[in-house]
Amino acid sequence: MILKLRKYGDPILRRRGAPIPAITPEVRELIADMVETMYHQVGIGLAAPQVGIPLRVIVVDDNTGAGARPLVNPAITARRGSVVGEEGCLSIPGIFAPVERAEWVTVEALDGDGAPLALEAHGLLARVIQHEIDHLDGILFIDRLDPVTRDRIKRKIKKEGLPDEAPHSAFAL
Ligand code: NI
Repeated sequence: MILKLRKYGDPILRRRGAPIPAITPEVRELIADMVETMYHQVGIGLAAPQVGIPLRVIVVDDNTGAGARPLVNPAITARRGSVVGEEGCLSIPGIFAPVERAEWVTVEALDGDGAPLALEAHGLLARVIQHEIDHLDGILFIDRLDPVTRDRIKRKIKKEGLPDEAPHSAFAL
């Protein structure tokens, strides 16, 4: 089922998600729906708060053709380097800006069956994971911009609003 995306200004995007204690049938259904919603939106990452669910689960697709991967209760355990790259967000359609992120991260999480996993990511996947875990903490990518750029974007949103349907972008997270 394709879920309704919550947009900038919705208070749920500012809430901290709760850890998932067990992979119940409801959690499996949520993950399946999040994957479907992400692909429908032509996104490469999605976090549960973006579909109105304040739980710590994300789905990511790094465009390698490996498919979507759910990460339950993900935590970054190490980070290295720093790189600036363009980001957008399905919850802030039509807005794109360069964001500084760690170049390389290690992540611990549970997979979609509840089994522990650890992964190393760099490049785009590392960026997507950092962006999505931020969503679980109520943080949006515009929070990570310099204050001048952030204020310019906030003024633009206040003046023009957000489009219902943004042009699809490979960098919408
Ligand atoms: Ni996002």
